[in-house]
Amino acid sequence: MKSTLKKTSIWRCTNCGKIATKWSGMCPDCKQWNTFVEEEKQVKNPQVSLSKKAVAIHTIAQKDIDRMEGSFPEFDRLLGGGVVPGALVLLGGPPGIGKSTLLLQVAHTYAEKGHKVLYVSGEESMEQVSLRARRINALSPNLFVLSSTSYHAVEKAVDELNPDFLCIDSIQILYKEEVPSSPGSIVQVKELAHAFMLLAKKRAMATFLIGHVTKTGDLAGPRLLEHLVDTVLEFEGDKNQGFRLLRSIKNRFGSTDDLAMFQMRETGLYEVENPSKLFLEERRALCHGSSVTAAIEGGRAFLVEVQALVTKSFLPSPSRKSSGIDQNRLSLLLAVLEKRLGYKMHASDVFVSLIGGIKVREPAVDLAVLCALSSSFLQKPLQASTLFLGEVGLSGEIRSSPRMEARLNEGMHMGYTQEKIPEKNRKHLQKQWQGKLELVGVEVVEKAVAEMGD
Ligand code: TYD
Ligand code: MG
Repeated sequence: MKSTLKKTSIWRCTNCGKIATKWSGMCPDCKQWNTFVEEEKQVKNPQVSLSKKAVAIHTIAQKDIDRMEGSFPEFDRLLGGGVVPGALVLLGGPPGIGKSTLLLQVAHTYAEKGHKVLYVSGEESMEQVSLRARRINALSPNLFVLSSTSYHAVEKAVDELNPDFLCIDSIQILYKEEVPSSPGSIVQVKELAHAFMLLAKKRAMATFLIGHVTKTGDLAGPRLLEHLVDTVLEFEGDKNQGFRLLRSIKNRFGSTDDLAMFQMRETGLYEVENPSKLFLEERRALCHGSSVTAAIEGGRAFLVEVQALVTKSFLPSPSRKSSGIDQNRLSLLLAVLEKRLGYKMHASDVFVSLIGGIKVREPAVDLAVLCALSSSFLQKPLQASTLFLGEVGLSGEIRSSPRMEARLNEGMHMGYTQEKIPEKNRKHLQKQWQGKLELVGVEVVEKAVAEMGD
């Protein structure tokens, strides 16, 4: 009988990973020339056997997941209450944000709890890692370091050491010798992630992979790996400022609507327990173009200062710069100010920034941005103890925002006595907040701006 398992060669693009059955000069996907290489043998997809046969769903006993905890409560919370053995976690973020620092600190806390940890750095020498470890005092005897860029060297070290926890810094610098593609290419990154996934599951060894992401997020690696790993954590923040946000973008073992805040100091990263306090620390009340709002990120409310600067423009096309809020959202607010209030925004340079390098994606901060812009334009300060909340609609109406109570609570907690909120929200909340906070309902932008500086 003839074997049905015919060995066929395949052609793989070393640039984008496209697989073809025959060679061609130009890759049809990425349009690069001479990138196809032949793969001699068919690569068998290795399988991790999680169960030998199918069983009825109701007969599967629920086991409590045994999670490993470190001494970074915020980090553990983000993972859903500690890391699960065998989990593959991707820690992404732009270069210089603090990924290596965080992972080394986390590795140390796990090591201090008695787990054996292997930290592999392909980007830094042993001396450099040790220098960082000394700086942040991550010197647990259970923490082992390897400086290598070869996957097989890592595999060998894992075999010898048998760690509970493996850290790879970074997935873009490592390579597998048998893969005919340069480190950091899509093919290498994919192959490595797959190999680490198998290794993690086979040994029940929690594995963290660091992946660099550029501002546009288009670098080979992290984006591509998201579906392969169990958890994706993303680090963000302004490199020049101390605050760092760690978001969980995907989590097979916990929720994704979560975020932890850190501050980078001289001796590493520290968890921030009261973000509102930190974000408002340097605020100068009663100056033009500054307002405060309460944003909800990762399920919790915190206060953040919005700063705006509106100046007469001498440019043919005026400048519009925003940091922390969406540029399209800013354009919309400027159009509303121009149309409804007659402010000459078309002849003004505009700069808006959320203090602390934080990015807020929800429209509930619109009113605060609009009021900060108006305050700068009119050169009148906003009330110092007022919080501004609400979404601005295209016709200048203030629309209600979700989770208003959590926002009001945080405002009250931080000493704000008056809150300007959408009229619809006020109607619902007035009774229960009577005597605690002064709620001012606003329906249209004219009203929000009219009382400025009173
Ligand atoms: P790093 O962890 O190397 O970033 P990444 O791995 O994401 O590229 O950290 C980069 C910055 O953090 C670097 O500019 C120095 C600063 N840093 C501190 O401010 N304090 C510290 O304790 C450490 C270790 C680093
Ligand atoms: Mg690094």
